[in-house]
Amino acid sequence: MTGAGGAVTVRGCLAWATRSLEARGVRGAATDASILLARVLGTDRAGVYARGEKVLTPAELESFRDLVERRGRREPLSYITGEREFMSLPFRVDPRVLIPRPETEILVEEALVRLRRRGGAPGRGVRVADVGTGSGAIAVAVAYHLPGCQVVASDVSAGALQVARENACRHGVAPRIAFVAGDGPEPLRPWAPYAAILCNPPYVAEGEEVDPEVLHEPREAWYAGPDPLGPYRLLLGAVDLLEPGGFLAAEVGAGRAEVVAELFAVHLTDVTVRADLAGIPRVVVGCAPGGRSPAGGGEEG
Ligand SMILES: C[S@@+](CC[C@H](N)C(=O)[O-])C[C@H]1O[C@@H](n2cnc3c(N)ncnc32)[C@H](O)[C@@H]1O
Repeated sequence: MTGAGGAVTVRGCLAWATRSLEARGVRGAATDASILLARVLGTDRAGVYARGEKVLTPAELESFRDLVERRGRREPLSYITGEREFMSLPFRVDPRVLIPRPETEILVEEALVRLRRRGGAPGRGVRVADVGTGSGAIAVAVAYHLPGCQVVASDVSAGALQVARENACRHGVAPRIAFVAGDGPEPLRPWAPYAAILCNPPYVAEGEEVDPEVLHEPREAWYAGPDPLGPYRLLLGAVDLLEPGGFLAAEVGAGRAEVVAELFAVHLTDVTVRADLAGIPRVVVGCAPGGRSPAGGGEEG
């Protein structure tokens, strides 16, 4: 880790941390090392690379070692930095909430395309629900990108709702989001009907292997329970909360789209599936009867 004369340089620290994280199975170890060092030095990654020969103070070195040790124990990078970007917005995250994933942006994009097609001022008079809001990623992103809409966001976790409220305040959309505690879609009932009900439910099945990082996230946020379709059956209890032609959209785990689409088709019409950027069918959408016409968003399969 040392440079000339035994001093510990930025370059040396990066090389040591990258090796150390790689040895503990961290993917993207070099990137993570530079992000952690940027935090310690109060700069960004470009600033780290620009200061390769800087010598770290003992305090900086100790902080950096601590952060690398945490990451080496497979604590998610976003919990260490306290932040994750979603739909171009920074979200505060901590172990009370699932870290928002890029796949979930497909769900939000699909919802925005469909809701914008309704015409009129963007989102004016539109009510949207987010079941299992976690960090508030879906609810806040929809409210932010659809300025006229009202959102109701629910979660079983009081801790998650606190984080979601903070994120809504941070992005100036708190006055347009009602946060409500409770199980499944029932807490949404007082505000019905909805133009859209969105959900990224827990979908890891019993015995399915997950990355060590996932074990740091709240279990109720990712474990679907003994019946992997259980969260979708619960969600379908929301069908009568949709306005005519309104839609229900849910994220699904890899390999689960077909069976969830079949389940949706029992209760909804015009069921479609949208794939994520890796080509994995990822979002299932179904409409309540009574709309003008099927309103698909992006590509469909
Ligand atoms: C996969 S996380 C999604 C979080 C966030 N919507 C996102 O996409 O990043 C699922 C969320 O649903 C919540 N949840 C789990 N079971 C629930 C239930 N029965 N009713 C309401 N929320 C539930 C969890 O607490 C967690 O915040």
